[in-house]
Amino acid sequence: MSETLHRQHKAHIDNLLSAYRSLMAQYDYDSIALYSGHASPHYGDDQMPNFQAFGHFVHWVPLVEAEHSWLVVHRDKRPTLYLYAPNDFWHLPTVLPEEPWVAEFDIQLCTDAFTPSLNDNTAIIGNMATLRECEDALPNGQANPETLTHALDELRMIKSDYEITCLREANRLAMAGHEAAHAAFAGACCELDIQLAYLAASRQRESHVPYANIIGMNQHAGVLHYQHYDTSAPTKRYSLLVDAGRRFRGYSADITRTHLGPDAPALFETLISAMYAVKDRLIAQLAPGVDFVALHEKMHHELAEVLIDHGLFRGSRETAVAEGVTRAFCPHGLGHSLGVQVHDVAGLRTASGEPAPAPEKHPALRLTRTLTPGMVVTIEPGLYFIPMLLTPLRNTDLPINWTLVDQLMPCGGIRVEDNIAITLDGFDNLTP
Ligand code: GLY
Ligand code: MN
Ligand code: MN
Repeated sequence: MSETLHRQHKAHIDNLLSAYRSLMAQYDYDSIALYSGHASPHYGDDQMPNFQAFGHFVHWVPLVEAEHSWLVVHRDKRPTLYLYAPNDFWHLPTVLPEEPWVAEFDIQLCTDAFTPSLNDNTAIIGNMATLRECEDALPNGQANPETLTHALDELRMIKSDYEITCLREANRLAMAGHEAAHAAFAGACCELDIQLAYLAASRQRESHVPYANIIGMNQHAGVLHYQHYDTSAPTKRYSLLVDAGRRFRGYSADITRTHLGPDAPALFETLISAMYAVKDRLIAQLAPGVDFVALHEKMHHELAEVLIDHGLFRGSRETAVAEGVTRAFCPHGLGHSLGVQVHDVAGLRTASGEPAPAPEKHPALRLTRTLTPGMVVTIEPGLYFIPMLLTPLRNTDLPINWTLVDQLMPCGGIRVEDNIAITLDGFDNLTP
């Protein structure tokens, strides 16, 4: 695999270079300088939060932990990578990996946090607020010019073969974690131990995950971004929802699985199967030309069918969707673009950079694009029993079967999520 990967990485860099140069010619810049960023200590403390380098920097250079570093892409000479490598006996000094991509750049190892000298005709892309913290004066150039930034974001929307290889490998590694998490749940472990089993099997430390793993048992499965890990197992085990990822060379997997606990009502088991089937039916529709907003609306029709077929709603599919019943059972979007960021850039813009906001009724949808080959998206239908969203419906005459809803409340909810590349004639599911 590594020979193919390195060949693909070189082609990826070659393509990025020519795309950046076209943009420099179009918008009249001499160079584009990408700042990787840096972590700042907690207030009043000397300890640092976890750092991850800026997405546009990682788009070129697979060094997710490179702080205070710059990649300057020139119109007329090789790109220069200024990699921060302090003389530091407290930490292991930065070393360049022995990989072929390093030959594509002129590389300077910098012992100080250093800003390259840039001319006025440079577009500087990165976090200017953090840059100001360690520089008396900002470098010359234009900071984050909007039109160019949108065009660079758009380059990240369409993945190269290299990026798809990375996303597939991230998925493979994450799935080993998901299998271990499921086994730990079967062994009656608590949330924290399931998280530790996930991290061990997916071979990563917690500071390297692409997003905080969501490991929720029982009602926690209905907290969309549940952020804690209980340290003791509950006496009853109804459900486990694991939404957990893995990075590979900066690229993120974002996979969710929901598992049945021994104490769940039988209906919950059939609902889990129904939601896996919904996921697969939605994925089967992925192809170039598909409008993601329309597919999100189809998810709501699918959810209405599930509610009706399982006796949770005794009205029509149209009523369930029109009256917001399906939105109360699933308040998030169908999915999003995936790349070096788990919620990748440019999802709410057109290909030419115009705003394409989420529809008013679906404000949490993060992708409103028409699909094209090379996009990588998540498909993550959910069905939850969230008291805050369902309670207001109890005072209506909507034909919801509250007896069943109350039986399912302790299960929290269901989400299943795969990562899919759009191909020339369909899709390629990257999730094993
Ligand atoms: N893990 C966050 C999400 O699925 O979007
Ligand atoms: Mn997701
Ligand atoms: Mn997820």
